[in-house]
Amino acid sequence: MTVKPILLQELPSDLDKTRLPQHVAVIMDGNGRWAKRRGLPRILGHQRGVDTLKDLLRCCRDWGVPALTAYAFSTENWGRPLEEVEFLMTLFERVLRRELKEMMEENVRIRFLGNLEALPSSLQDEIARSMNETKENTGIQFSVATNYGGRQEIVQACRAIATQVQEGKLNPEDIDEELFGHHLYTHEIPYPDLLIRTSGEMRISNFLLWQLAYAEIYVTQTLWPDFDRKEFHQALLNFQQRERRFGKV
Ligand code: IPE
Ligand code: IPE
Ligand code: MG
Repeated sequence: MTVKPILLQELPSDLDKTRLPQHVAVIMDGNGRWAKRRGLPRILGHQRGVDTLKDLLRCCRDWGVPALTAYAFSTENWGRPLEEVEFLMTLFERVLRRELKEMMEENVRIRFLGNLEALPSSLQDEIARSMNETKENTGIQFSVATNYGGRQEIVQACRAIATQVQEGKLNPEDIDEELFGHHLYTHEIPYPDLLIRTSGEMRISNFLLWQLAYAEIYVTQTLWPDFDRKEFHQALLNFQQRERRFGKV
């Protein structure tokens, strides 16, 4: 039996380890364009994008970023051609099944954010299994936004809160930002302090609308399948140069 060496890559020396983001969120965009530029079908871009995400997760672990959230499928992405949607659903399921063992070995805690009930039932099973099996893991907090929409998330939180009021369990005066946050899919993780979007698009595309209120935004022209550790290093350097004022002077 060969034992796989754990390649722990150290934090680059120009980064300050006391000022790393505590939660990085990524909009993994540009898979289709990456494939198109190579004359390949879009789905191959998605397939390649999985490797990028896997390496970023490792990199966060190596460098000491404790939480990573990736946008994998938006509530609007159902509007894509059926063939692409079906490919993505199958890809998610296949990757989850394949990676669970390694996530356990690496102490990864995985969560899924979004309206999961609308996903294919075999994918829901795989999601439930991975969340359940990794729930005691104490390493990196890894979240995957799947059938996720920021507006949908806010609406479902309002509905849950309204129900509690209706049942007499909650007074409207007790609804504040903290309580609201408890009803979001992200209730167990801190809000992101850095948002990275690849492929140059300057928009949020319905991602974590509430949670990103004060996140620093970093956009790179690089397409998602080409986003590597060097790129992540650049994003972190840029983050560390920002002055975060939170409305103050
Ligand atoms: C992001 O890449 C992946 C998903 C939305 C699932 P795209 O598929 O949006 O790639 P582009 O933006 O068309 O290049
Ligand atoms: C955002 O990318 C959604 C994901 C990365 C999953 P899109 O490609 O769907 O966003 P738009 O259409 O450019 O806004
Ligand atoms: Mg896109």
